[in-house]
This record gives sequence, C-alpha cells and structure tokens, in this order.
Amino acid sequence: MKESLEYYNQFDKKLINDYVLGNKRIINAIENLGSFIPENSNNILDIGSGLGWSSHEFAKAFPNSQVLAVDLSPVLINTASKLFDTQENLTFKSYDLTQGLPVDMYDAIVMIDVYEHIPIADRAKFHKSIKSVLAKNGRFILACPSKYHQDHLKNNNPTGLQPVDEDVDFGTIQMIAKQISGEVIYFEYQNIWNNYDYLYAVIELNPLYGNNVNGLKHQPIDIEQRKERADRVNSKLGIKVEQVKRKKKTTTLKSLLKRVKKK
Ligand SMILES: C[S@@+](CC[C@H](N)C(=O)[O-])C[C@H]1O[C@@H](n2cnc3c(N)ncnc32)[C@H](O)[C@@H]1O
Repeated sequence: MKESLEYYNQFDKKLINDYVLGNKRIINAIENLGSFIPENSNNILDIGSGLGWSSHEFAKAFPNSQVLAVDLSPVLINTASKLFDTQENLTFKSYDLTQGLPVDMYDAIVMIDVYEHIPIADRAKFHKSIKSVLAKNGRFILACPSKYHQDHLKNNNPTGLQPVDEDVDFGTIQMIAKQISGEVIYFEYQNIWNNYDYLYAVIELNPLYGNNVNGLKHQPIDIEQRKERADRVNSKLGIKVEQVKRKKKTTTLKSLLKRVKKK
C-alpha cells in the first residue's frame, strides 16, 4: 500500500485541474450515479473521495444526510477538508479501505473509480466490511473503468494505469452482490471518452417489490458551475487554474501546399 499512498499523495494537482476544468468522467458519475442514492438517506459514505468533489455534491443534494468521505491519502483529505470547509453535513477522514470501514450504517456507499484499486486478494475481506456497514435496504453504487478500457491502457498507454489497477467486469459485480447478499439492480456501460469505457453498477440489499418508488430515485444531481468551482479553489486553496486555451490553427506555407496537393 506504500506505493499507492505515495502515488495518491501527489494526485491533488491532477484532481484540482479535473475539478476546475470539469472532467467528463467525474461529472457524468456524480450526475448519474448520484441519482441512485436513496432520497431519504441518513448516512452516505463516499469511499476513495479524492478531492471530495463527489462528496460535496452529494452533501449539497442530500442536505438531510450526513456524508462521510474517506480516502487513503491524508494529503487529499487535508486539501478536500479545506476546499469544502463550509459544508456542515460533510466530514473527511483518512482511511485505508483494505483495513476496514468507519463503523456506522450507511444507506448509500459510493465508489467512483476506486474499486479497481483494491488488490484482488483483498476483495473478499472488503466485501465483508461493506456488508457489515450497509443498511437494510442500502445501496452500493460503483463506477469503474471497463475491462475494455483497461486493456486499451495496457496496450497503448501503460503510464495511465495506477499502482493497483485490476480488471472489473459484470462477473465481478455479480460476485460482489453475492458476497454482500445483495441484488444487482442496475448495470450499464458508459461512453465517456470511448465506447464502453466505463461501467456503472448498483447493488441493493433486500430490494423491495412494490409500487412505492418514492425515495428510491433522486433527480440527476445538479452540479456546481465551473466559475464557482474556480472561485472556490482560488479562495480556499489560493490556486488559480488557468483555462486551457486551444491553439489557433495557423496556416503555414507547408500546410497550404499540403491542402492544395490534396485537392
Ligand atoms: C482514481 S482516484 C478517484 C478519486 C475520486 N473518486 C474521483 O473519481 O475523482 C482513486 C482514489 O482512491 C483512493 N484510494 C486508493 N486506494 C485506496 C485505499 N486502499 N483506501 C482508500 N482510498 C483509496 C486514492 O487515494 C484516490 O483518491
């Protein structure tokens, strides 16, 4: 875990950029997976919260819930605590998920791009921890890169892989459901950067058959705008993230000749 800790302690710059500039992967996960958090949740656990962007959006969208955000990296936890210090129903805590989970009962446990970072040998123990803290009709909500995406990285961009980056597929999700005694109530591939590059899954304990859907489906989460996010980073962390300017295409003699040749 030492290698992972060192790696994620230096991950804050990337996550701050993602937050301000608006990384599509994270926005899509917050908006869509956040809608599976039961409306009447008392406690929500966001595991591997990174910079705390998702945790903050959940805390705003569910003001009557307590949101606990945990992450391996004390550096990320420290930065997130500063960034979102005014959100009263949100707490950040440094925690290694392979060593157990904060004791409580959670109506929703969310992991956005984190499950694949659990070594396969630690999965069964982790599922036991999830089972012990997920409330009676609670939901375990996950986003992971698909096996297609992991294969693509392995073959074309291995530096894009993180210290522990295991494959996750529908079989894995079924196995989690079995080990926590839940049901897969939702599974879908997403097309974020490429077709089928991410998968979303929701596992529910004791799904209730009936016609009372109240409380089960929340509206898609309406996230904070880019300007507010940039202002927050500036005022809380003293960092100004410059918007990446697209290079204007200049016409050189060479490119002009190429175009003429093509014609
Ligand atoms: C790819 S980042 C995702 C961060 C955030 N959820 C997002 O989507 O932007 C993976 C996160 O998982 C955390 N993580 C990795 N291993 C962990 C562990 N054993 N316990 C807790 N968090 C862990 C890392 O510190 C990092 O913040």
